[in-house]
Amino acid sequence: MAQIFHWITALLVLIAFIYGPGGSEQRIYSPATDFDRQLHETLGMSVFVLVVLRVLWRMVDTRPEPTPVPRWMELSAKAVQGALYLLLFALPITAIAGAWLEGHPVTLLAGIQIPPLLGLSHAAGAQLANLHTWLGDAILWLAGLHAVAAIYHHIVLKDDVFVSMLPARIAPRRANGR
Ligand code: HEM
Repeated sequence: MAQIFHWITALLVLIAFIYGPGGSEQRIYSPATDFDRQLHETLGMSVFVLVVLRVLWRMVDTRPEPTPVPRWMELSAKAVQGALYLLLFALPITAIAGAWLEGHPVTLLAGIQIPPLLGLSHAAGAQLANLHTWLGDAILWLAGLHAVAAIYHHIVLKDDVFVSMLPARIAPRRANGR
């Protein structure tokens, strides 16, 4: 389950990033960009639901013993993973609040609309929408760093860290047999 949550989230965040609507507010909410924006919002809302389920799952899941690594590596990995979790919550929250404060509904692909549940405050909404775009860039940089670290573990340190996130069927045999 942890692997499924991890890889689906990574894929959805990447596609949501690619379809991130840019430009002026008028352009973002114009009929011409409806499909891209709705796809982006649908993927982003799916990420939100997934991260909530993932945190609940982590509370009941029994995780394998982590691969022993130096303390500094353990702490920096925890810091990056904590920041990724924070961003997975902050991205949808800033986007939803930003859109609502600007007076726009959240619109999903199936035609589902969630009308603004916050009062109109356009300037604050625009600031949150702007913050959202920054956070969108930040999560890609951080996820990139996280991926580079995983590859470093696999190729240079030759330990089990990366392999532990691969499904057993495609994972090379793990050194300690877990
Ligand atoms: C969780 C994954 C998400 C990621 C990685 C992400 C990423 C991004 C990025 C990078 C942009 C800027 C695109 C550009 O400037 O070219 C953007 C804009 C936007 N996103 Fe997201 N987003 C996510 C979730 C959401 C959700 C859940 C919603 C809607 C509820 C949403 C609605 C928007 C809107 C409306 C904009 C335009 C903001 C503006 O400039 O007014 N996003 N997103």
